[in-house]
Amino acid sequence: MPTNTVSRRAFLKTGTFAGAAAFVPVTGSAVRHVGPVAIASGNGRGCVAEAVRQMQAGADALDAVVAGVNLVEENPDDTSVGYGGLPNAEGVVQLDSAVMHGPTGRAGAVAALEGVMYPSRVALQVLRRTDHVLLVAEGAQAFARMHGFPIENLLTERAREVWVRWRENLSNRDDYLPPHGSEDRDLGRAMRRSYDHWGTIHCSAIDLTGNISSVTTTSGLAFKIPGRVGDSPIIGAGLYCDNDVGAAGSTGRGEANLESLASFLIVERMRAGDSPQDACLFACQRIADNTRLARLQNENGEPAFNVSFYALNKAGVVGGARIRGSGGRMAVADADGTRMVDLAYLYA
Ligand code: GLY
Repeated sequence: MPTNTVSRRAFLKTGTFAGAAAFVPVTGSAVRHVGPVAIASGNGRGCVAEAVRQMQAGADALDAVVAGVNLVEENPDDTSVGYGGLPNAEGVVQLDSAVMHGPTGRAGAVAALEGVMYPSRVALQVLRRTDHVLLVAEGAQAFARMHGFPIENLLTERAREVWVRWRENLSNRDDYLPPHGSEDRDLGRAMRRSYDHWGTIHCSAIDLTGNISSVTTTSGLAFKIPGRVGDSPIIGAGLYCDNDVGAAGSTGRGEANLESLASFLIVERMRAGDSPQDACLFACQRIADNTRLARLQNENGEPAFNVSFYALNKAGVVGGARIRGSGGRMAVADADGTRMVDLAYLYA
C-alpha cells in the first residue's frame, strides 16, 4: 500500500469512527488529524468553513459540502455560480452541478438547469430520490419543481448588464467556429477576454467518520451557446470521489477537462501513490499533452487557457495545481481553522 494513502481496512483499525475526531498515522511517527477536512476552489473560503462547522456538529460530508457551496450559489456577487451567474448567449442563466457520495459510490447531477438557485441541492435529490445520475434541462427543472424547489429568475441586474455589453460587442468572441484546420489560429474566443470566464466552485470533504464526499456547481462559461454543458456535472471530469482513496474536482475550461476526465485520473493517481498535488500536476500535464490545436495554444505551444484541480486523500493530505500561472489558491479548513493554500502550476 502506498505510504500516503490509508486503506479503509487500516482506517477502521484505528477504531476512531463516529463522533470522535480520527487520528491516523501516515508516515513513520507522524500523526495526522483527518476529519473533518474540507477543500475548495479559491472562491470557497466561506464554503469550507461552513462545511467543517457542519461536520464538527456531526453532519455527513455530503450534506456539509452542499451546505458549503450553497453560500456561493445564493451570493449574487459571485458571477460564476448560481444566482448572479453570467448567462448564456441568449441571456438565460443555465446551471450545472454534481455531487458524489464516497460511502455509497453514488452520484447525482443536473445540467443546463434553469431557474433554480441551488443546483447542488437538486443534484443531491437526483442522487437520493432517483435511480439515475444525470438529469438535464427541462427534465431537471421539472424534477426540481416536483421536489418543491421554487423556479426563479436568476439573472441579476449586474449579470444582465454584462451580458448586454457582450452582446453589443460581438465579433470573433463567440463559440461558433467556421470550418478550420488544426493549424488555424485566432478562431472563436479560446484566448479569453477579460469578461470571459469559467468560474465554478468545487468542494470535497472528509467527515468525522472518515467518509468522503464532493460537489461541484457552476453557471458555466459566460455567454455559452445555449445548452452547452461543461465538466462540472460530469462524474470523473468536474469531480470524482472514492471513499478508500480521496477526492478531486476542477474549475476552468471545462471542454479541456471533458476530453481528459481529469478528476477520475487524479483519484487513480492518488490510488497509485501520488500525493494530491502531484496527482493534480499529472492531470494538468495530461491536458497540456492533449491540447494539439493551434487555436488553443499560445506562441510557445502551451495551452492558452487554464484548468485548476483540487484534491485531498484519505489521510487528509490536500493539494492542488493549475495549468497556468502562479498565484492560484485553494481554500482549506480543518479543526485548526481556515486558510488559503497555493496551487502548483505547470507554466508561469
Ligand atoms: N469548469 C466549468 C465549466 O467549464 O463550465
